[in-house]
Amino acid sequence: MAIQYELIKEDKQTGARLGKVTTPHGSFETPVFMPVGTLATVKTMSPEELEEMGAHIILSNTYHLWLRPGEDIIKEAGGLHSFMNWDGSILTDSGGFQVFSLSDMRDITEKGVHFRNHLNGEKLFLSPEKAIEIQNALGSDIIMAFDECPPYPAEYEYMKASVERTSRWAERCLKAHKRPDEQGLFGIVQGGEYEDLRRQSAKDLVSLDLPGYAIGGLSVGEPKHVMNEVLSYTAPLLPKHKPRYLMGVGSPDSLIDGAIRGVDMFDCVLPTRIARNGTCMTSTGRLVVRNAKYARDFSPIDEHCNCYTCRNYSRAYIRHLVKTNETFGFRLTTYHNLYFLVKLMGQVRQAIKDDCLGDFREEFFEQYGFNKP
Ligand code: GUN
Ligand code: ZN
Repeated sequence: MAIQYELIKEDKQTGARLGKVTTPHGSFETPVFMPVGTLATVKTMSPEELEEMGAHIILSNTYHLWLRPGEDIIKEAGGLHSFMNWDGSILTDSGGFQVFSLSDMRDITEKGVHFRNHLNGEKLFLSPEKAIEIQNALGSDIIMAFDECPPYPAEYEYMKASVERTSRWAERCLKAHKRPDEQGLFGIVQGGEYEDLRRQSAKDLVSLDLPGYAIGGLSVGEPKHVMNEVLSYTAPLLPKHKPRYLMGVGSPDSLIDGAIRGVDMFDCVLPTRIARNGTCMTSTGRLVVRNAKYARDFSPIDEHCNCYTCRNYSRAYIRHLVKTNETFGFRLTTYHNLYFLVKLMGQVRQAIKDDCLGDFREEFFEQYGFNKP
């Protein structure tokens, strides 16, 4: 088995899980946040910087690497780890979600999805077999099944047919997987906001006895309380002794609320994307460093942050760089935001160890300026 998961303990206040995942490229404790490196780079960060801030696993995208530079080149380089010089763990998404979010022309059939390349309009076809073949060539530690992520809201009948197809596709992914000793294949539970469909989806996928499971189809425009509700009944449907991954979620409040519902792994472009727009995550909420009010503010982004950016640079300087489109400005805000989430997950894990994640949540939400539910 390529992936091992050890459940270390559960928080007495909330039931959140402290665990440890081991892949062929090392171990990391969970709950964990995975920075996104879509094109084999976490935008503006070097692997050394990611390691320094405490990241042990990053995410990359099958769809993008398939188009550019092509998985054959990455395979020739010795795989994705060696291509990008990242020696930690890598998870690749299957391309299912990207096909649906990036391409407007698409035709879903039982065999797979016909769509157009979002860069040049060329006709393309992605199937469960193809998505696994590409991920086998990339050599990522965790590979994802090819799924359909329907939009929110979707009609019950559509969602039911989609869930059934995603289950059949997962079975085909498992059959097509050629490197099970080196790469762990995760299934993706779909079903939208329909409890019986989530139940069906989880049951189908769990019967395949995969090394881990993701919860997909969330953070697609539904209100937060819907996501929390779906998580509350979906996470317990998954095996206790395997990792659970909530796809595409990365706001600080959702990370805490996801962990409380039994999620172990998260990823999202949010911290890196908003960084390049001059927005920083801080212990007291979001700070838009572009704002005029920071022009003469020589204090750090976050008083309570000990990251490279906050130890060395002021809001005024970073504002100037961001406003003049200087690359260094984006590096500084990206470093800070990723550090902030990596540190937040460390605090979540510590709170689970100390059986006080409920209290931690209250304090964090109070400071961050969220209303209590
Ligand atoms: N990323 C965010 N949500 C999803 C999902 O439902 N499926 C896949 N494959 N990737 C995602
Ligand atoms: Zn900082």
